[in-house]
Amino acid sequence: MSAERNIVILTGAGMSAESGVPTFRGVDGLWEGHRIEEVASPDAFRRNPELVHRFYNLRRAALNTVEPNAGHLALAKLEREWRGNFLLVTQNVDDLHERAGSEKLIHMHGELRKARCECCGAVFPWTQELSSGTRCRACGEIGGMRPHIVWFGEMPFEMETIMNALKSADLFLCIGTSGMVYPAAGFAQMAAQNRACRLVEFNIESTEISRQFRERVIGPVSVELPKFVEQLLSDSHRQ
Ligand code: APR
Repeated sequence: MSAERNIVILTGAGMSAESGVPTFRGVDGLWEGHRIEEVASPDAFRRNPELVHRFYNLRRAALNTVEPNAGHLALAKLEREWRGNFLLVTQNVDDLHERAGSEKLIHMHGELRKARCECCGAVFPWTQELSSGTRCRACGEIGGMRPHIVWFGEMPFEMETIMNALKSADLFLCIGTSGMVYPAAGFAQMAAQNRACRLVEFNIESTEISRQFRERVIGPVSVELPKFVEQLLSDSHRQ
């Protein structure tokens, strides 16, 4: 294996499940009886902003009690020690990758610990609660503050950077995602356009997109990722 490999990694909710962050579509995937699609859309926010704020306030507060797991730490180590290009793209809105030490990281679906004003576009670090009565610290408007989260029907962040990295990827790791939400669910296909690209899926079960992977690692990320990263680094250091 060449030391110049270009790695692109996609992570989903399964990455943080063992840290205690609930996944979206598992057995515990409903929130107060609502499917995620019912609370994570511009429409839902217009119809019932307080419900949407409550959902994200709870998720934001829950971040205070969770820690990165061994899988997050393994990916941070991989980034530190890898000699080629590296990009970590997460669909997760928690901050466990950065707390584990990851730096080359794109939050394509936004971040729980940020808020944005729909009136002036300003984005702020945010750890408190948000409500319809929250005033924007930049423009002073009330009622425009929302979680800095990409909702269903909205465009994910930094797609151009992600597409460019996928085009030149020769190793694509797809970790803990059900493959049900696009465009992320299409990343494996894009990476596979480079026929030499090695594609590996990590999950505890089969997914909608499993068939696209020549290699699959079945098991929890906290166990499987540290093993995989050690092997990858030792192979690359031997070159
Ligand atoms: N190790 C590996 N995989 C796991 C683990 C684990 N410990 N625990 C759960 N998984 C897998 C599940 O089998 C499932 O395939 O993680 C996946 C989680 O899937 P989803 O809950 O659908 O989460 P995700 O794919 O990240 O959702 C994508 O949908 O709701 C939107 O914007 C939200 O970013 C989210 C997007």
